[in-house]
Amino acid sequence: MSDAPDTIYKTDALIAEDIESYLELHQNKGLLRFITCGSVDDGKSTLIGRLLYDSKMIFEDQLAALEADSKRVGTQGQEIDFALLVDGLAAEREQGITIDVAYRFFSTEKRKFIVADTPGHEQYTRNMVTGASTADLAVILVDARKGVLVQTRRHSYLAHLIGIKHLVLAVNKMDLVDYDQETFDRIVADYRAFATSIGIEDFTAIPLSGFKGDNITAAPSANTPWYTGPSLIQHLETVEIADQAAQARAFRMPVQWVNRPNLDFRGFAGLIAGGSVKPGDPVRIVPSGKTSTVQRIVAMDGDLEEAVAGQSVTLTLADEVDCSRGDVIAAADEPPQSADQFEATLVWMSEDALIPGRGYWLKLAAQTVTATVAEPKYEIDVNSLEHLAAKTLGLNAIGIAEVTTDRAITFEPYAQSRQLGGFILIDKLTNATVAAGMIHFCLRRAQNVHWQALEVGREAHAALKNQKPAVLWFTGLSGSGKSTIANLVEKKLHAAGRHTFLLDGDNVRHGLNKDLGFTEADRIENIRRVGEVAKLMADAGLIVITAFISPFRAERELVRSMLPDGEFVEVFIDTPLEVAEERDVKGLYKKARAGELKNFTGIDSPYERPENPEIRVDTTRSTPEQAAELIAARLLGEWAPDL
Ligand code: ADX
Repeated sequence: MSDAPDTIYKTDALIAEDIESYLELHQNKGLLRFITCGSVDDGKSTLIGRLLYDSKMIFEDQLAALEADSKRVGTQGQEIDFALLVDGLAAEREQGITIDVAYRFFSTEKRKFIVADTPGHEQYTRNMVTGASTADLAVILVDARKGVLVQTRRHSYLAHLIGIKHLVLAVNKMDLVDYDQETFDRIVADYRAFATSIGIEDFTAIPLSGFKGDNITAAPSANTPWYTGPSLIQHLETVEIADQAAQARAFRMPVQWVNRPNLDFRGFAGLIAGGSVKPGDPVRIVPSGKTSTVQRIVAMDGDLEEAVAGQSVTLTLADEVDCSRGDVIAAADEPPQSADQFEATLVWMSEDALIPGRGYWLKLAAQTVTATVAEPKYEIDVNSLEHLAAKTLGLNAIGIAEVTTDRAITFEPYAQSRQLGGFILIDKLTNATVAAGMIHFCLRRAQNVHWQALEVGREAHAALKNQKPAVLWFTGLSGSGKSTIANLVEKKLHAAGRHTFLLDGDNVRHGLNKDLGFTEADRIENIRRVGEVAKLMADAGLIVITAFISPFRAERELVRSMLPDGEFVEVFIDTPLEVAEERDVKGLYKKARAGELKNFTGIDSPYERPENPEIRVDTTRSTPEQAAELIAARLLGEWAPDL
């Protein structure tokens, strides 16, 4: 990793702290967030060091240390090596901090800046996407001697993908090509051809030298008389950042939280994602569809007459309408859509590859739902931009896939709104962010297949049977005793006059799921289908008993989340592997040990034990009859001691 990032690595909490104190310091200036893309070889450290130095954001003692360092390493006649500054800052603050994106803060007379320094290598795609997700502008560094490279294209593609509107093509190291205009023009023409091909409409090209300081602060440099545009700093200071397009759209504000200090005040706080709002404007709460009018716009320094996209405000409404975190307050006559199926671009950020069909948390604005991702339609090669066939997405892969959520979410296409079109996926067990996503559009299928409100509801079905529906979900190793105990439980419930139905792994795999094997993906699909069937049966008022190994926690939790609270009863048939293997009722463990049966649970395929099952049965301490007695009693609401 010769190209390892020479940066300050910080945790989110530290970054938040820094940003806060930094913003306090320069409160009245506009803020520009930008990223720099390029590798160490392109002179990125030198350029950033130069920006920091020229904007006088370096403290005296650091400067002294820097001069001493430069003398020590010798810098080709240059008094100060700016790369050393950046590296020095890094070393100072690096200790014990997680690798992510390095953020630096500086300011000039006109503006304050937050620069996210993202490493250039392909294996850092996820860092770049993280750093870019809030940026207004990207500086794409090119070495004047090398011109547009594969990585230039990759960086530009990612910056464009993530929705950065302003691109700067910084043609660096002009001193090494004798400030030759032709070289510069050729690179710009090359870049323009590529940019146009991927839909980048506009960019600003600047010839510069981070090393010598040409066109960094003052322009034009005497060395580039043929260049009449702005210097890098001038451009950064003046580029229009207020998102006029966003402000021109219809009003939307995702509610981050409801502020209710006392009974007289109820405010809805959030960042305005689009449009503008004034007191008296009619608004609609999505998804409920309830309407009201804006009463006040409360901000830090008193009420506002108007607020626009990009501002964080608290709104009060004229009526006592239901509105909570995750809802979107929108223009009454032009509300955003809600849907539960989308096509999206996903940037995969986890070492653990995407598992199609698995339930992940999806967070979009203030909404959190369970989502599953279908097998990708294709993956995009970030270097050639070709479409590749893909069954999954690994770390740093970018792909296009359909995403389904367990309930409708309110959104806008990412191209229109980063806040309402961008989401992240989170692993339910590790809580790690595994992907960033950008919604293209919702699927017509989802738009047109509406939930049919059924007149005879699930309560009515259950009432007729005089029972409360439930799903008794047995899980455990092969040979643990699931089917045996489940059968006994069903007999007991049946005898007690309950209408039950038993779904058993071996049986379902002969019919509904006969197309599925035992790979991880197939097992997930097996459980997903069984979950859907169990849910339908519970809707029909039945007490459903299922007996499947169901080895993965995530899928068991997915089924739990599909049912009303309390209806999913996880029954863990806890039999140690040695005991199940010793019993080997079907002779399968023997085969698996002999290598004749692949992916056998417990042998070469994992089993994830339930962490908090409603009922746990230790089959080494009780007979199947005793276990069934306990489970049936619990379900019938009778008191029964633990075994
Ligand atoms: S699950 O993992 O997808 O939940 P399921 O309960 O449907 O599994 O099926 C498990 C049954 O299939 C086992 O009891 C066993 O009889 C049979 N079987 C065949 N091959 C395997 C295998 N590789 N791993 C586990 N069970 C297998």
